Amino acid sequence: MTSVLYPDLPENGLIVLIGASGAGKSTLARTWPASQVLSLDGLRGMVGDDPGRQDVTADAADVLKLILERRMARKLNTVIDATNVEQSVRVELVMAAKRHGMPTVAVVVATPLDVCLERQGPRPDNRRVPEDTVRAQHQARVHSHQQLAAEGFNTVVFADALYRLEPFLKRLSQVREAELGRDGSAGLGDLLLVRRFFGSEVLPLWRWRPGSDLVTGRDRLAEIRLGQQSLILAFRDDVDGEGDFGFDVLLPCPFDAECAGQAWAPVYSVTDLYKALTGAMDSDPDIVCTVHGDGVDDDQDDDPEGRADLEAQYADAVA
Ligand code: CTP
Ligand code: MG
Repeated sequence: MTSVLYPDLPENGLIVLIGASGAGKSTLARTWPASQVLSLDGLRGMVGDDPGRQDVTADAADVLKLILERRMARKLNTVIDATNVEQSVRVELVMAAKRHGMPTVAVVVATPLDVCLERQGPRPDNRRVPEDTVRAQHQARVHSHQQLAAEGFNTVVFADALYRLEPFLKRLSQVREAELGRDGSAGLGDLLLVRRFFGSEVLPLWRWRPGSDLVTGRDRLAEIRLGQQSLILAFRDDVDGEGDFGFDVLLPCPFDAECAGQAWAPVYSVTDLYKALTGAMDSDPDIVCTVHGDGVDDDQDDDPEGRADLEAQYADAVA
């Protein structure tokens, strides 16, 4: 058997991960670019809306084989993220690679059974594989080991012998440098903070709105809009006069339906954006209106330099 201790993986080949559920295949697969990884779970999700849905496995496997075929026709590196503990499954993959003259690597993810079982515990229900199944997969993996070379794999290697942290960090680092614009690109610029608060998915919808009277100083106005629905946000440069950054969302004034001012409430996450859009923040206790302040009538506001001075800011802006 061609078992190598410090293997050089082919630049372009078919890499078949082999291991029981919970062995760490998907974790290892993430060290390759996402476009190179064919995940049976992922395809089950695409075909059946649920990665754990067993009745779509055959359809998902069909799709996997089709994409693999098309990729290998282009000599592209492909990683198969599935248990692959059944010989018939592996043989089909190897035969496809041979047809295209692609080298094949079996990567055995030989995690002990008790660890595989333990890792099922914290998983969501639809991703928790029954104990009997994990045991059977583990057993099949152990038994399959001696057969892998005979099945036609050019290289058989234990996952533990691979040097995958380096390419993983290299790729993450390149992405990060590009985001920061250190690779000569424009980078994410002033969207970096937006992403940290709300996640990358909202970035394509985010528009800064310069030149608005709704904000003053170094604060900036922005909008998230998709069709008929939108949110107005303000970036605050100096939250509560403490030099912190933050975002507020514009809401209807809770103190007076006819109010001509603006009511702002802090938003910290995409969940807050969702709440703001659906009205669930309309009575948020942190709302501060440019006319009504925080709605507390007495003079106990001990923060005259902070949020309450929005009214003054607004007055200045419209003067
Ligand atoms: N894990 C870990 N250390 C590793 C590899 C994996 O702690 N070196 C953990 C992961 O954080 C994950 C769990 O083990 O929570 C299961 O790993 P995963 O890659 O999801 O296992 P798979 O083999 O992909 O399981 P399945 O076949 O069910 O998809
Ligand atoms: Mg997995």
